[in-house]
Order: sequence, then C-alpha cells, then structure tokens
Amino acid sequence: MKKLIRNIGMLATPQGTASKSGKAQGEILQLADAWIAVADGMIDRVGSGPVPNEYFDEVIDAGGKLVTPGLVDAHTHLVFGGWRQNELGMKLHGMGYLDILAAGGGILSTVKATRAASEEELYKKAYDALDEMSSLGVTTCEAKSGYGLDRETELKQLRVIRRLNEEHPMDVAATYLGAHAVPNEYKDDREGYVRFLCEEMIPEVAKEGLAQFCDVFCEKGVFTAAETERILTAGREYGLLPKIHADEIEAIGGSELTEKVGAVSAEHLIVCRQSGIDAMAKAGTVACLLPATSFYLGATYAPARAMIDAGVPVAVASDFNPGSCPSLNLQLCMNLACLKYRLTPEEMLTAVTLNGAAAIGMADRVGSIEPGKQADIVIWEAEDLNYLGYRMGSDLAASVIKNGEEIW
Ligand code: NIG
Ligand code: FE
Repeated sequence: MKKLIRNIGMLATPQGTASKSGKAQGEILQLADAWIAVADGMIDRVGSGPVPNEYFDEVIDAGGKLVTPGLVDAHTHLVFGGWRQNELGMKLHGMGYLDILAAGGGILSTVKATRAASEEELYKKAYDALDEMSSLGVTTCEAKSGYGLDRETELKQLRVIRRLNEEHPMDVAATYLGAHAVPNEYKDDREGYVRFLCEEMIPEVAKEGLAQFCDVFCEKGVFTAAETERILTAGREYGLLPKIHADEIEAIGGSELTEKVGAVSAEHLIVCRQSGIDAMAKAGTVACLLPATSFYLGATYAPARAMIDAGVPVAVASDFNPGSCPSLNLQLCMNLACLKYRLTPEEMLTAVTLNGAAAIGMADRVGSIEPGKQADIVIWEAEDLNYLGYRMGSDLAASVIKNGEEIW
C-alpha cells in the first residue's frame, strides 16, 4: 500500500535514531513545500518540490500546513481506577502533596480504586484516554503500573497495558512501577516490601515479558536512594531497564544515581542539583521533564536550560495521572516547555518526539520523519513551529497518522 502526503507547507523534524543533546537538540530539518511517500506504513522517501511521478494508492493533501512526527509521550500513569477530585479541596485548604499521601490519600487511594476495578474496566478507561491522546497528536506513549502494589493488581495493570499496545493503534511501552509507594500491608515492614519487589515481582514481571522498564519513585517518605538502587539493580539483572522518578519534591540523590545504575531516563527533576545534571550527562540519561505536573502542583520548573547546556538530552512528557497531573494534553506541555523551561520551539519539538522516543528505547522506530521509520505523522492547524509553542488552550492537531493510517 503506497501513500503520498503532499502539499506540506512546512515539514519540521529532528533526525536520527538516538537522543539529541546540547546544541543538536535544537537542530531541526525544516523543508518548505514538502512531501512524504509512505509504503506499508513506513516512511519510504521525503522530499520537497515536485512530487514523485508514480502511482499511489492514496494521496493525502496536507493543505499547506505544518507537519511533524507524531508526538511521543514518554511518561504516563495511564492505567488507574477512579479519580481524585476530592484532593483539590484538600490542597486548597492548605495540605501538600506529601501530606495527603502520608494521611493515606494520594497514590494509596488510587491503589484502592485500582484494586477494586476489573481488568475490563481499567482497559476501557485507558483505551478512551489513548483515544483522547491520539486526538491531540500523540502516536506513541509509555504507561506505568504502580497503582496495584500487590502481585495481582500490578500484573492486572501490566496485562491491560500489553493489551492496549496490541489493540489500540498507539504504540505503548510498559514500565513496572511496583516501587511507587509502600502499600499499607507493608507499612511496618519496608524492608519486606523491597524484598518482595526484588525477589518475587521483578522476576515474575520479566519472565512474563510484561514490561521493558523498571521505575522507582525516589522521594522523601517514599523510597530512599539506597532502596532505589537495590530495586533498579534487581530489575537490570532481569533485563528491565532503569528509570527513576527523581528530585520531584526533594532532592535525595535520585538523579545522582542515574550514572551508577545506567538509567535510560530520569523523570521530573524539578529540584535537580548540578551533581545530578552532571551524572545524567555522563550516563547519557534522558531527562524526562513533566511541566504540567509543576504547573498542577504549583511547584517550580526543572532547570531545563542548565541540562541542555550540560549536554543532557531533554524530553518533555505529560505524567498523566489522577493525582499530580490529571491532564494528558501534551500540547499544553509544549507551551509550558517553551514558556517555563525556555526551550526554543525547535528544542521543544525534539523533546516531544525523538528524545521522548529515546527515553522509551524506541528512537530507532519513531520520533522523526525519515526513511525507515514508522509513518507516524501529525498535520497541524499551524504554519510553522513557533505557532505550536505560541497558541495555548486550543487543539491544533488537524490530522493524526499512525503507521500510515489516519487515526484522527
Ligand atoms: O509522577 N510522583 C509519583 N507519581 C506520580 C503521581 C502519582 C499520584 O499522585 O497518583 C507522578 O507525579
Ligand atoms: Fe510520574
């Protein structure tokens, strides 16, 4: 099946099959009057000027608009039961995120709702969320477990993620986040919970092939840096690649661990210190920054410019979850990346495409428009990249193409 996307006013894409850092993060190929030839769902050729003189089964007219790679949302907590709108009131009465968690709310209340939900309910709810994400231009995402914390519910979440990856057009990478919080059953036995993760859960998740990554919420009152290292090292032994929720609220050594454990990505990094930035630069870890969470928590914003200056590849993702970021809108994150992280529109595009893909080990397949990659493409109601960073609050995705098929 051969398709041509023609009449592209401006095609903008990073290039390559690995993350981009430093100056290269802002290097974007921009082709005016461009076209893309697609064969069997893959990008075959890209050019500008006269279109190829050959037969195509289908021709899509981009109407002179901006075209970019499909967006990659490299950090979501997609599968969960219930919502937590009650916490908005608690917050406005002065309670902090960690106060709510310590009082048995927060993550633990979503754990209750997720344990109570059937696999089918979780699947349906997450499927709808993937539809909404696709409509906003996302064609690949990551999804974490971490709202079960017991064996049965964690496996239930991971099975839902596997099924979504198979049945929804979106590519969904799976991350095991058993270390999201210490569950009530282990309240007085943290050591027991860490051993349960390392000795029982990680081997089982790996054996069933239910996740590619292992993540830990390394945070004051949640998991210490030493516990994080143990869990990620155990994950590595079973082939699960390390990710770390680091320096979100307090810097307790999470980002500094990236070098030691060879983390693929570190997430949040709101209060990351220079020592953490240096460790990530050395390890080639992708800093996966989540600006809508900073916005929602009323927190400061991660030091993205310092990271780019230090040669750390920066990705930007949504962190969609029912507590600290009840938004799955990556377009909003793109605005915040420009306005709050001070990324240029070019750096921002790399952050939500190629670097996001690198953060989930998929940069060889998605994240840029070039021959050999999947034909994951967004046609925008925009004429240039600046417009994507500039307009706020409107959905600018005009058409979303996944593996060569128009899905929105
Ligand atoms: O990435 N930081 C930890 N986990 C999520 C929040 C989860 C929740 O509040 O339910 C996050 O922000
Ligand atoms: Fe998160």
